[in-house]
Amino acid sequence: MQHGSGEQIAPHCIILTLLYNSISTTALLIVENDMTTANATPVLEMRGISKRFGAVQALQNVDFNVYAGEVVGLVGDNGAGKSTLVKCIAGIHPIDSGTIQFEGRPVTINGPKGAVALGISTVYQDLALCDNLDVVANLYLGREEIHKIAPGVVGTIDEVKMEKRAISVLRGLSVSIPSVRTLIASLSGGQRQSVAVARSVMWKPKLVLLDEPTAALGVAQTRQVLDLIARLREQGLAVVIISHNLEDVFSVADRITVLRLGRFAGTFGVRDVTHEQVVGAITGAEFGTLESYPGQPLMEEPKTV
Ligand SMILES: Nc1ncnc2c1ncn2[C@@H]1O[C@H](COP(=O)(O)OP(=O)(O)O)[C@@H](O)[C@H]1O
Ligand SMILES: [Mg+2]
Repeated sequence: MQHGSGEQIAPHCIILTLLYNSISTTALLIVENDMTTANATPVLEMRGISKRFGAVQALQNVDFNVYAGEVVGLVGDNGAGKSTLVKCIAGIHPIDSGTIQFEGRPVTINGPKGAVALGISTVYQDLALCDNLDVVANLYLGREEIHKIAPGVVGTIDEVKMEKRAISVLRGLSVSIPSVRTLIASLSGGQRQSVAVARSVMWKPKLVLLDEPTAALGVAQTRQVLDLIARLREQGLAVVIISHNLEDVFSVADRITVLRLGRFAGTFGVRDVTHEQVVGAITGAEFGTLESYPGQPLMEEPKTV
C-alpha cells in the first residue's frame, strides 16, 4: 500500500485551517499504542540494511539497534546515510535488503502510516509545524478529538478535551510556553522544536526519531531541547537523534552509532569513547586514533545493553 510522505503536512495545514473556520469535521482515526517498559529486547533491531538510489548506494549492510529508555546518537559526515536510515525506519523509503525487528518481531514497515501504527514517531529537520495555528492545533494536527453527538451525526472538535491533554503532555515534559493557545509563529525556535517533539509523543510511541532537532537553535534553546530528549528517555522511550554536533550527542546520548559512506562504522557507549575516537570513525581515520588511545576499543559490534 502506498502512503504519503512527511512532505504532505503543508497542504494539511490549509485543510486544518479551513476545518477550524467552518467547524466542519471528518471522522478521524486515532491510533493509540501502549507504552511498554524497558526489557532486554531492542525496540528496534535492524540487520544488514541496504538502500540504493539509482547509482548511489546510500546504505550498505548497516546494523542498527535501539533499546527502550535509551538515546542513540546517529552520526556521520554529510551523505553518510543518516537521514536515509531514519527514513527507512519511518517508512518513507522501503529497504532493498536486510531485516527489521520491532520489539522482537520481524516486521516490514509499510509506509509512514505503517511506522506510526508500530509506534514509531518522527520529528523531521524542517519542523513541519503550522505557524498560523496554535499549540493545541499543532499537537493534534490530523488527529483532532471529536465530540460524538449521536451515531451517524458528524461531531464537532472537542477543544476543551484537546486543550486539557495538550497542557498535561507539555507539563509532563516540562515544556514551558506562554499558553497552549499561542500561535506557533510567535514562539522561539527552542519552544517550536519542543512543541514538535511533544507532538511526537502525543500518541504514546515506543520509538522517537529526531533528525537534527537542534540544527537551527542557539545554545540555550539547544539545551532546552536536549533536556526534553532526556525526559523522553526517562519516560522509557527509545530515542534516536541525528546530529552534526558531537557536543550535543555526547551530552544526551547513551550510545553513538557512526555511519560512514553508507556503512556501519561502529557503536560506542558515550562513557567508553572520546570525541576524537568518534571523529576518527566518522572520517575513517580510526587507525591513527587507535594508537593515540591504546587500550580503548574503537570499533565494536553493536552492544547488548
Ligand atoms: N531521495 C533520494 N534520492 C537520491 N539520492 C538520495 C536520496 N536521499 C539521499 N540520497 C543520497 O544518499 C546518500 C545519503 O544521503 P543522506 O541519507 O541524506 O545522508 P546524511 O543524512 O547522512 O547527510 C547521499 O549521497 C544522498 O545524496
Ligand atoms: Mg541528513
